[in-house]
Amino acid sequence: MQISATVNTHPVSDERLAEILADPGFGNHFTDHMFTVEWTPDAGWHDARIEPYGPLTLDPATAVLHYAQETFEGMKAYRHADGSIWTFRPEANAERMVTSSHRLALPVLEVPDFLQAVQELVRIDQRWVPDTTEPGAGEKSLYLRPFMFASEKFLGVRPSQHVTFMVIASPAGSYFKGGLKPVSLWLTEEYTRAGRGGMGAAKTGGNYASSLVAQQEAAAHGCDQVVFLDAQEGTYVEELGGMNMYFVYADGRIVTPATGTILEGITRSSIIELAQKMGHPVEERRFGIEEWREGVTSGEIVEIFACGTAAVVTPVGSLKWDGGEVPCAHEGGEVTMAIRKALVDIQYGRAEDPFGWMHRIV
Ligand code: PLP
Ligand code: COI
Repeated sequence: MQISATVNTHPVSDERLAEILADPGFGNHFTDHMFTVEWTPDAGWHDARIEPYGPLTLDPATAVLHYAQETFEGMKAYRHADGSIWTFRPEANAERMVTSSHRLALPVLEVPDFLQAVQELVRIDQRWVPDTTEPGAGEKSLYLRPFMFASEKFLGVRPSQHVTFMVIASPAGSYFKGGLKPVSLWLTEEYTRAGRGGMGAAKTGGNYASSLVAQQEAAAHGCDQVVFLDAQEGTYVEELGGMNMYFVYADGRIVTPATGTILEGITRSSIIELAQKMGHPVEERRFGIEEWREGVTSGEIVEIFACGTAAVVTPVGSLKWDGGEVPCAHEGGEVTMAIRKALVDIQYGRAEDPFGWMHRIV
């Protein structure tokens, strides 16, 4: 892919950047540039470019605004102690976007083109990748958000004949305001996230739109996040609004809900491999809500955690529902923290990468 570049002549000043990187939060600040490439059936992908970051001008009839034909990805760039910059399993994000795009009837952006787009944006905005070697710097990274949307001006309901793929980047600290304290969960019995044949396994905006009212319900009950059950039987745990789940048993086994209607997380699949290497048998299977309630009460389940790119590995606290509550399994338990450390040590270059997951960019 040929990419033209227009350098931002008014980049954020070094002083302001230092302030931003000292406490970036999540999703608040954006880098100096953005990547764009457009698609039409006749020309295919064309006009790839990096330009100064800025607002888009969209016709009010732009299809995505009406029918939500859209896919996105979430990944991070990490700075290692020697100053080099790396991404984690970027080809897995590229492949998942292909799968999501098939489901949303969007064109395929080939894996090498996706990787090149991400790489070139990170290269040009490399000063935005936080340094994490200073004491107390914490786990910061540059969050990357590739996304593809129906950009045709047309109100008919059919796949868009003009599609835009972009990558933007945003420095990130902890996803949750409280840092690494356990998140409390609300079990929604009214709303579901995905049904058979639906879009649950695709990373598309509609899934997140549909989760918001359930998330409001969670907040109204004093909980941080919402847990979704399967739509058919209302029995099996699926995932949180933006994270997959893991249950740690007293005998060392760990269980994660099987995929199909959940988003197949890259953190989730990496943890399967890491945990196995650390000696934990891993079961991917249907996991009933009763098993959760009974397992925590009996002490058979000793830790619960959630995982995802933004959330990394986050301990799970209590579970509440209309009329009941199960207390926390062990908060931020040993297995959770050991798995978390094994993962972030690879991501930040503090441990060897026996899986070949890291991809050097700078
Ligand atoms: N489930 C949902 C609904 C998500 O949005 C995410 C975040 O991307 C995940 C799971 C975790 O996926 P990954 O580990 O690839 O970030
Ligand atoms: C991610 O972890 O990358 C996500 O997409 C979750 C959320 C920010 C939507």
